[in-house]
Amino acid sequence: MRNSCRNVACRLASLAAAGIAAVGTAWGQVPPAWEATPNFRYNIESIDYNANTRVARVFFSVTNPSAGEVPWDIKADWPFTQLLPSAVSRLSLDIGWNTREYTNAGSGSPSAAAAPISVDLLKNATEVVPDSGIYVASATLPTQAKGTGVAAIEGHPAWTVDLGGLPATAPVPVKNAYKYFGITDSTIVPRREIVDINKCKVCHDGTDIPRLSLHGSNRSEELRVCVICHNPNQTDIPFRKTGAEESVDFKRMVHGIHAGGMRRNPLVIIGRGSSVNDFSGVRFPANLANCLKCHIDRPGQGTYQIPLASSVLGSVINTKSTLGGAIDVNPANDLKITPVASVCSSCHDSAKAIYHMKSKGKAGFGVLQSQIDSGTYRERCVSCHGPGKDKDVRRVHEIEESGR
Ligand code: HEC
Ligand code: HEC
Ligand code: HEC
Ligand code: HEC
Ligand code: HEC
Repeated sequence: MRNSCRNVACRLASLAAAGIAAVGTAWGQVPPAWEATPNFRYNIESIDYNANTRVARVFFSVTNPSAGEVPWDIKADWPFTQLLPSAVSRLSLDIGWNTREYTNAGSGSPSAAAAPISVDLLKNATEVVPDSGIYVASATLPTQAKGTGVAAIEGHPAWTVDLGGLPATAPVPVKNAYKYFGITDSTIVPRREIVDINKCKVCHDGTDIPRLSLHGSNRSEELRVCVICHNPNQTDIPFRKTGAEESVDFKRMVHGIHAGGMRRNPLVIIGRGSSVNDFSGVRFPANLANCLKCHIDRPGQGTYQIPLASSVLGSVINTKSTLGGAIDVNPANDLKITPVASVCSSCHDSAKAIYHMKSKGKAGFGVLQSQIDSGTYRERCVSCHGPGKDKDVRRVHEIEESGR
């Protein structure tokens, strides 16, 4: 009998050293350990940006809310050191810009068309003062980065779970953290707020419909972090090998996911490992025409109404990349859908509706942002669908009274 391995953690480490995943499953198939979520909180303490060197230093900690917010030691504690056989522990700093509309142009990240800068915190963070539990990591921003930027922490610690009597290592979803900082803005401009995650959680509560933790439990329950990547210039190009690119712009993708019962064309997004995510079977268990099921209402103009802010960009549907090859990160040659038509056609996708948007509305499907900016494609939706107009977006949909 061996005395050395008395606990599960040790047995898992031995398996890992032998290159074997627990219970013969890839760790990604082990369900997330939501029961451990109350033990972790990501905190961005402070951001120090130097406009001359363009270096952003991000100070952060991971604390334990169920133990008086004691900081975890991310260099030594078990949940953060499970890196073999695969990264069950993962912690990443994402830096994006700018809050008027994220595009992350110039990030140099070749992993997607418009990805933020990403820093592996388990490798690259250093503790500010020994035993303080406060760490710092830095990144240099490109000259294209202007306005207000955002720093976010995403990823998952590891946890030991019981899987049918056998120990396994599971990822722990932790609500992602974010903080804005001025790049060239002396006053921070927060990103506009459109939807309220508490409304999403009415359905996404983990009972029948999963909680909002995506991408292998890395990106969890903070929509302000989703939108850094799910921006107008991002598509599913990273893993797409055939067919037309699909936009993952949040204002288009989230509608499309829930509109399976209404759309004529299935929404199919190619994800990690070329996984085929076909959302045409999703049935919204409520009235989809009630925009307030997700949106924030405001006196005067609800966030679901038009006009959109002038900074809002059209959604890219073709990055001009070579499928299965190099990803084109230059936004200037991207082909887009004009912004209002992109939103409306994510639910109303019939040929008739799209013809209407092009003919009556002067919308473009497959045009350059420069053609939108110059007015070659100036959408005319507001004159008929704007507030108080005959076909006001509020009036044509079945909107509940606000406050309900
Ligand atoms: C009225 C209920 C309801 C509301 C409100 C709702 N959803 Fe959903 N959502 C669903 C259903 C049902 C699915 C499909 C779930 C499934 O098939 O497992 C889904 C799926 C999704 C998916 C795809 C999940 C995956 O695993 O691929 C995302 C992302 C999503 N919703 C985001 C949101 C966001 C963001 C909000 C709020 C802004 C929201 N949802 C509000 C019902 C809802
Ligand atoms: C660091 C960047 C990044 C963040 C943060 C991010 N995503 Fe994604 N997401 C992507 C990219 C890129 C794709 C396109 C497919 C791919 O490359 O995996 C995608 C695809 C998806 C898909 C469709 C395919 C799939 O893999 O399921 C859903 C649903 C999704 N994301 C939801 C979310 C939600 C919800 C959040 C926030 C809780 C989020 N994402 C945060 C980058 C990100
Ligand atoms: C299932 C949730 C959900 C429902 C239902 C929903 N939306 Fe949205 N909508 C979103 C999300 C998520 C975004 C993007 C949020 C972000 O970028 O922060 C969005 C963005 C938008 C935008 C862009 C706003 C901007 O400033 O960029 C418009 C316009 C819009 N929705 C219209 C509608 C209309 C009209 C309806 C009802 C017919 C509707 N939405 C119903 C989730 C929803
Ligand atoms: C989240 C999905 C969703 C989005 C986004 C959305 N709609 Fe709708 N819309 C609906 C649903 C559901 C109805 C109810 C009738 C139906 O099923 O066609 C509807 C009905 C309408 C109608 C009445 C049509 C008729 O035949 O009676 C108009 C007009 C309309 N929408 C315009 C718009 C415009 C303009 C936008 C963009 C600003 C938009 N919608 C965005 C879901 C959506
Ligand atoms: C000249 C007025 C006018 C303009 C401009 C206009 N629309 Fe419409 N739109 C209408 C009318 C009228 C309907 C039919 C409404 C009904 O059936 O109740 C409609 C219907 C729609 C519908 C529902 C279509 C369906 O079949 O489900 C959508 C979506 C829509 N419009 C989007 C847009 C968008 C996006 C733009 C701008 C790019 C736009 N419209 C510009 C007048 C207009």
